[in-house]
Amino acid sequence: MSEQILIIDFGSQYTQLIARRVRELNVYCEIHPFNHIPDNIPNLKGVILSGGPCSVRDAEAPAIDLSQFRGKVPVLGICYGAQLMVHQNKGNVMPSEIREYGRARLHKIDQHPELLKEMTIDTQVWMSHGDTILELPANFKNIASTEDVEHAAFKIEGEETYGIQFHPEVTHTEEGKTLLRNFVVHICGCSQDWTPDIFVESTVAWLKEKLGNDKVVLGLSGGVDSSVAAMLIHRAIGKNLHCIFVDNGLLRKNEFEEVLHSYRHMGLNVKGVDAKDAFYAALKGKIDPEDKRKAIGKTFIEIFDQEAHKIKDVKWLAQGTIYPDVIESVSVNGPSATIKSHHNVGGLPEKMHLKVVEPLNTLFKDEVRRVGKTLEIPDEILGRHPFPGPGLGIRIIGEVTPEKIRVLQEVDHYFISGLKERGLYDKVWQALAVLLPIQSVGVMGDERTYENVVALRAVGSVDGMTADWSQLPYDFLADISNKIINNVKEVNRIVYDISSKPPATIEWE
Ligand code: XMP
Repeated sequence: MSEQILIIDFGSQYTQLIARRVRELNVYCEIHPFNHIPDNIPNLKGVILSGGPCSVRDAEAPAIDLSQFRGKVPVLGICYGAQLMVHQNKGNVMPSEIREYGRARLHKIDQHPELLKEMTIDTQVWMSHGDTILELPANFKNIASTEDVEHAAFKIEGEETYGIQFHPEVTHTEEGKTLLRNFVVHICGCSQDWTPDIFVESTVAWLKEKLGNDKVVLGLSGGVDSSVAAMLIHRAIGKNLHCIFVDNGLLRKNEFEEVLHSYRHMGLNVKGVDAKDAFYAALKGKIDPEDKRKAIGKTFIEIFDQEAHKIKDVKWLAQGTIYPDVIESVSVNGPSATIKSHHNVGGLPEKMHLKVVEPLNTLFKDEVRRVGKTLEIPDEILGRHPFPGPGLGIRIIGEVTPEKIRVLQEVDHYFISGLKERGLYDKVWQALAVLLPIQSVGVMGDERTYENVVALRAVGSVDGMTADWSQLPYDFLADISNKIINNVKEVNRIVYDISSKPPATIEWE
């Protein structure tokens, strides 16, 4: 079992970032909400307490009994986590009188404690808190200050327990990585051996043991997650893994054939299923985006279930679920509103009565890609832009028809191949075309036309949560616009989407 760091979540928007920074140090970590901390964590090397939106002085404020960790393993409290330790030990935490959001500089640093070794005077840190520590408890020692915040960092004497009132996990804290390395590597003593190679080796061994001679079924989508999950399981059990790749008729031009070919080339036992007509029938007359998503999800489950039943004695359903989908995030202000139902095939395991295996459910997206590289999955699959499960179905605004799909596939093909030819494809995070439900007047030769409008969108992003529109070169946009209008006669107007997320989303529906 790998060495691990436990991250206790008090509801901060940055908790996942802490985990990513620790993982970047090749150290395994898990996030657990403050009210669901597992009892026995094997090989626990240290604990990080996240920030959070509450005030430690509120009666309902989230709290835990820290005596289960303090003095046994090193503990680092960040913002709320640090204030909680102070509050529980009779120090003084009060609403801050001056602004403590944004950039600040550590003008006093005590280099003796291991935590702040090699950090430089006046290094920039990122603050974000409404309360502040006014007075430290007796055995807490101040180890850093900013101009406005005296107790920017402290150490509890006689134990490896620290608190900081700034966020080392955000990039605005210039030497945040140094601080986290000091904590995780030097104070907790983690050996930094959690690499993609080791992950593959240990996961394949675990899968071999868990699955034995059982048959497993997995739905491939052409995306990174399901492909990496398939290759891992394939390494463990070979032909006992039965993959199903459903053509829902909502994929990009030629995508089904090309991706199926790559999968076979990778040695996967994969069956391609042409189910276009079933999806088109389910979408007929549907206009509302959520209705369309539901119709597509439901049809997928039906088709997949039928196909899976053709495999004799199948026992397991494998899924490419990744860590951000499973982290139970603390909801301090009530459940966060569902903006869109992205869980397209959420009902699959319930319907199928199979045991579920999810080999990637501890990994972040970038880690899945790194594991994919170790597994020698071709770049054309690993480097693919994210593509929504409902595919072009949610990029045709209004009712989806086979004819509209054909038009959008053509447009999308010119856009995506153009990006690839100009070396821009890998520079944007996701690019797409949307067929709008309006016609506009145009003129071609001597004729007036009344044809469709298409929007092109390309965004930069890290995880899809926030995104900015890509500033593609004008001459490229001009070229693509000409190509599309000259070749796709159903389109006579192209617009480029210049909205960022938020407030816009990446997809239009
Ligand atoms: P939005 O449009 O919410 O999208 O900014 C964020 C990311 O999620 C993808 N997306 C979906 N993925 N099923 C999916 O599997 C969906 O229904 C869905 N809707 C959006 C979107 O393409 C982007 O990468």
